[in-house]
Amino acid sequence: MAKPTRQMHLGLFLQGAGHHMAGWRYPGADSGGENLQHLLRQVVRAERAKFDMVFLADGLTTSAEAHPSQIARFEPLLALATFATATSRIGLAATTSTTYGEPFHTARAFSTLDQLSGGRAAWNAVTTSYASTGANFGVTHPPHADRYAIAEEFIDVVKGLWDSWDDGAFPKDKASGTYADRSKLHVLDHQGKYFSVKGPLNSSRPPQGHPIIIQSGSSDPGQALAARTADVVFTAQQSLDDAQAFYRGLKARLAAFGRTADSLAIMPGFLPVIGGTEAQARQKLALLDSWTDRSKAMRMLADRLGHDISGYDPDGPVPDLPVSEQLQSRARLLAETARRDNLTLGQLASLVAVGRGHYVMCGTSEQIADRMELWFRESGADGFNVMPPYFPGGLDDFADGVIPILQKRGLFRTDYDGPMLHDHFGLPRPPNQHSATSRESVRG
Ligand SMILES: Cc1cc2nc3c(=O)[nH]c(=O)nc-3n(C[C@H](O)[C@H](O)[C@H](O)COP(=O)(O)O)c2cc1C
Repeated sequence: MAKPTRQMHLGLFLQGAGHHMAGWRYPGADSGGENLQHLLRQVVRAERAKFDMVFLADGLTTSAEAHPSQIARFEPLLALATFATATSRIGLAATTSTTYGEPFHTARAFSTLDQLSGGRAAWNAVTTSYASTGANFGVTHPPHADRYAIAEEFIDVVKGLWDSWDDGAFPKDKASGTYADRSKLHVLDHQGKYFSVKGPLNSSRPPQGHPIIIQSGSSDPGQALAARTADVVFTAQQSLDDAQAFYRGLKARLAAFGRTADSLAIMPGFLPVIGGTEAQARQKLALLDSWTDRSKAMRMLADRLGHDISGYDPDGPVPDLPVSEQLQSRARLLAETARRDNLTLGQLASLVAVGRGHYVMCGTSEQIADRMELWFRESGADGFNVMPPYFPGGLDDFADGVIPILQKRGLFRTDYDGPMLHDHFGLPRPPNQHSATSRESVRG
């Protein structure tokens, strides 16, 4: 079959205990954010299914009430370094924070991951929503606008550091005694509002030039940052209409930065609950929901709304809350969903316990593939961040049932085109910004 011009991208959003809050309780489910063999099995399975990448999210706080996948989990870059040695093609994406981190450390770590994996690293640059994080770093959590201003500068510094050395900067010429070619060295010498970074980076230019950059904040400043700096956007939408509006709006912002629409892939979260029939899929979700701890779900909802809701009646309406300094787009999405579907606060908490506001669909493999195709063809998505409710069964159902249908329809690859993650996304290698002589094509 001739390859169509456009195929969807699929990321596996890997969480040790699944995405449904009670996924770990499903019969046959394995779990553990620190269970290496379990995690590795999912990554290898995803590579066999030809996923573009596997993604490990991260946060810098925890509590006994947190989502089981988030209570205790590996530091994602260290885990991905292990995954790199067990795989050869699948992209490896990790979250690190621009609010609680240093550009030098970040540039170095992702450069190292890119080298360890032969060009498969991706960085989900987040501003970190939760105010409680500040207490782990001895600082007051900065306001939303400041966090995004910091992120703008942070990412520029990281990209500048990745370009510290030109390709071929280390000839290791024994005859002349030249290990490093000084003419290929660029000292960043950055002095900005938030960071002062001399450089150069003690890491050679990453195989991808720049590891893939992901942005996952969908507020206005989040979209502005994505339009200027990101290759991939993770987002959450509850309906095709909303997905199309987001997609249109964000793609329209690209031209201002000299970028084309296809230089940025938009990938909403998608939580498939798959059954032999639609009724069986619904029964499966109902079973999972029956194990949800109501009070923990309410806490998760409070986090996503950015407000304490303990004083409100779970059987009452969702209160009208002001915009939070913690996070904006997810809170807005949940409030709108509750209004549209006439949900009580408790019902909204149950929805958050399933997929934290990401799109949830119960159906057969065929129905799931149909819905994905619709969103993809109707400009709601360039692909999806797939969020199995539990592992390994939820991933196996998707990989064995849905992916072959997408492949048969020509909507998803049957093999990888190239060795690096930017090859999977059809993106060129960016030139070194410090090097006037670079003849590489510019990544838009
Ligand atoms: C798929 C997806 C993955 C995310 N992963 C993380 C993460 O690992 N760590 C984190 O702090 N925030 C994560 N976020 C949250 C966003 O980065 C962002 O902080 C949040 O949506 C609030 O952003 P906003 O105020 O711009 O809307 C994720 C969001 C999405 C859609």
